[in-house]
Amino acid sequence: MIKEFTNAPEAREFMYEGKAKKIYTTDDPELVRIYYKDDATAFDGKKRGTILDKGVVNNRTSGIFFSYLEDNGIPTHFQGLVNEREMITERVEIIQVEVVVRNVVAGSLAKRIGLAEGTVLAFPVLEFYYKSDELGDPLINESHMKVLNLATPEELEIIGGMALRINGLMVGFVEPRGLRLVDFKLEFGKNSKGQIILADEISPDTCRFWDLETGKSLDKDRFRRDLGEVEEAYHEVLRRLEVGLNG
Ligand code: TMP
Ligand code: ASP
Repeated sequence: MIKEFTNAPEAREFMYEGKAKKIYTTDDPELVRIYYKDDATAFDGKKRGTILDKGVVNNRTSGIFFSYLEDNGIPTHFQGLVNEREMITERVEIIQVEVVVRNVVAGSLAKRIGLAEGTVLAFPVLEFYYKSDELGDPLINESHMKVLNLATPEELEIIGGMALRINGLMVGFVEPRGLRLVDFKLEFGKNSKGQIILADEISPDTCRFWDLETGKSLDKDRFRRDLGEVEEAYHEVLRRLEVGLNG
């Protein structure tokens, strides 16, 4: 069920380094190679650290989620895992918007609208943030996105619809594995054919997972809030996701 890429094209030129990943070109202009690092940042890079083996766990965790979403009709950039820390993905131009879906109040939403963390939302809340380190990734609305040419109204329709479908699929995947999907962040990109597909990663760096029974955070909040047992939480999420996957 987790797609692997055999005979993967070698990494050629270094293209881009983000906070958690490095991207390399390959001989195939449509494909890039993504390397997952152990570096962790929070609060727009103001807090920095290392989470041992995070790159290994997040590469595989993302591979599991992308494979599952692909199998359920969501187009993604994922082409297959290459090794412990690397995957091959389709080359895309990233849309400079972070799309957040929330099922339960946590983090910045608690501050913004004054509801207590843990309050269950009556329906999923969709938010857009402008990917700009300089501005600190501000919350933006559809009008802002149009005026900044970040996405057309048609593209926004596609992105919003996909984000909500992905939410339903992910909840259905993680709940039987004892995880509550509190909220998560997605990024989308446009491939060479102009199609909008899911990109970036899906991991405890980009999702909030709470243990269904105890409510314990099993995600990057353990790093952000100095809660301890950070590595253990990442491993625990992966361990649960592996349950029931092709034996
Ligand atoms: P927030 O409550 O801090 O706005 O975060 C909402 C979700 O988005 C949470 O699951 C963590 C994720 N997220 C990222 O992936 N990257 C970010 O830079 C931020 C701020 C949040
Ligand atoms: N991604 C970080 C976070 O989750 C933000 C950052 O990169 O500074 O808080």
